[in-house]
Amino acid sequence: MGFQPQFLETIAQRRSALRAEVSALLPAPRPIVWEIGCGHGHFLVRYAGENPAKFCLGVDIRLDRLERSGRKRDRAQLGNCHFLRAEAREFFHALPAGVTFEEIWVLFPDPWPKARHNKNRLLKPEFFEAIAGRAGEGARFYFRTDHSEYFREVEGFFAAGEIPTWRRDPAAPWPLEQETVFQARAASYHSLVAVRTSHPARPTGIVAPGLPPPATPMSPA
Ligand SMILES: C[S@@+](CC[C@H](N)C(=O)[O-])C[C@H]1O[C@@H](n2cnc3c(N)ncnc32)[C@H](O)[C@@H]1O
Repeated sequence: MGFQPQFLETIAQRRSALRAEVSALLPAPRPIVWEIGCGHGHFLVRYAGENPAKFCLGVDIRLDRLERSGRKRDRAQLGNCHFLRAEAREFFHALPAGVTFEEIWVLFPDPWPKARHNKNRLLKPEFFEAIAGRAGEGARFYFRTDHSEYFREVEGFFAAGEIPTWRRDPAAPWPLEQETVFQARAASYHSLVAVRTSHPARPTGIVAPGLPPPATPMSPA
């Protein structure tokens, strides 16, 4: 896909600002709990409160939701809970070297139900491959959705052995039950926990549809 120079410049500036913001938040190498699409912050604020030793970082593209999340965090007076406006894959590439994921949470992601929009779904084998590069053995991935077809697609990647860097663990506990806005609206839902295996990660990048690849295609772990 060809991109207009003006668009490329806008994206480059946005990515540079995001890198500066993330570096300020994470000045030293450390493990983090990353929630993707944190919405109104119900889950992460409670999780950070119950796990004061964990550095919790929620990312969302919606500013209004992040503002609400921040207010919840402030009311709870939490110093280990942070919210950032970013597209998930851009955030991933903005991470400084040495920042690793001890947990990744994806709760009720946008399902993109139409077949022609399937490519917009975040949870694809290349996503798992990319995040594996920043996740040590034993790191956890938590996924919950009320969209059965999206769930089946993701569990199919594991069942087909398409993601050697992660293994589904049906026995793993769900560490905290906290209803989110979208969970409250759901008639039922499915949950999946995966654990990082010892399989080496192939350095790879992830790019949201419609955006140019990052200048450095892979993120140094
Ligand atoms: C269906 S809502 C779920 C929100 C929350 N997790 C919950 O359970 O209530 C999906 C959230 O993901 C955010 N989102 C969608 N695409 C995203 C992306 N590419 N990067 C970061 N956030 C994204 C949306 O703005 C929205 O807040």
